[in-house]
Amino acid sequence: MLLKITILPGDGIGPEVIEEAVRVLDAISHSFGHEVSLTRKNIGGAALVASEDPLPPDTLQACISSSAVLLGAVGAPSFDNLPAHLRPEAGLLRLRRELGAFANLRPAVCYPALEDCSPLRAEVVRGTDILIVRELLGGLYFGEPRLLHGPTGDRAATNTMRYHEPEVQRIARIAFDLARARRHSIVSVDKANVLECSRLWREVVTEIGRDYPDVKLSHMYVDSAAMALVLRPRDFDVLLTENMFGDILSDQAGGVVGSLGMLASASIGGPVALYEPVHGSAPDIAGQGVANPLGAILSVAMLLRHSFHVEREAACIESAVSKVLHMGNRTRDLAKDGRFAISTADMGERVLEAVKEIALSDVSNNAAPN
Ligand code: IPM
Ligand code: MG
Repeated sequence: MLLKITILPGDGIGPEVIEEAVRVLDAISHSFGHEVSLTRKNIGGAALVASEDPLPPDTLQACISSSAVLLGAVGAPSFDNLPAHLRPEAGLLRLRRELGAFANLRPAVCYPALEDCSPLRAEVVRGTDILIVRELLGGLYFGEPRLLHGPTGDRAATNTMRYHEPEVQRIARIAFDLARARRHSIVSVDKANVLECSRLWREVVTEIGRDYPDVKLSHMYVDSAAMALVLRPRDFDVLLTENMFGDILSDQAGGVVGSLGMLASASIGGPVALYEPVHGSAPDIAGQGVANPLGAILSVAMLLRHSFHVEREAACIESAVSKVLHMGNRTRDLAKDGRFAISTADMGERVLEAVKEIALSDVSNNAAPN
């Protein structure tokens, strides 16, 4: 199979983690006999420096004409004071919109080897396996009007939270379909005791739920969901929510399972899907070779599964990640105080070796006569 992928390393630790993810992708393709065609382009701060546009036309064009997009991270402190449309984040938001990627899937899984990395007691976090389904193109992130105006001392700012019924319907269907392939349970998170948007959200999700009588649907207010996520993370299967709540709860879920550095994501719904680790550009550790590349590497697994439907290849990467963690390999975010931490490149290397080994036994098993 030809894997035609656009690579957007972006800012901060983005390029470091993407380099490891690409090495793993190459190894997988080699082992399973696929051909990879990669196009690298700028986005975010890197693109602002090169062309004063956080999503240059050639970047967008490359994304649209490939089969999948793999992105590192965007954001750099040097752009913090620029107007919204000239910030690195604007490039990512526009890309999500241009790609029609309205459904953001963020699995938060507690790996057995990482139980002691969570700030929660092992018995609380053990077995946690949540799929956050975050609406990605609506709500406060895109609602109009949005403005900041007036003289200093007397300024006012406005953002608009807006949802249109079809936007809620389509994300709800994605969540229900995914729940059917999991444990048949959805918690829909809103703030329906205060917000009209949330009242609409709750009604529409409930209506869609009637088409899925085999899926158990419950609703929670976002404040109470935030608490339940740390008290009883195991109780969540699919957590469905709107854009801003999903942004916040997914970082929290990363903390719960040990490190945000572990979380991968897929943004789907349009013709070309976008894959990225959930962590940001982390400028405080950029360039030091200490970032955790596993979120990016696991994003490659999601890419293979969702965009190319090659399940064995995706599972091979996931098994490789479990294996290297089980063997005790830890980047700095995962190493307990004073414990030895390996570099970004070393972690990538260990996964690469594990991928090759697992692929070899997988391929020979499949080639074996019955
Ligand atoms: C994320 C990030 C982005 C978001 C930023 C970088 C725009 O925090 O993917 O969670 O808020 O969606
Ligand atoms: Mg975020």
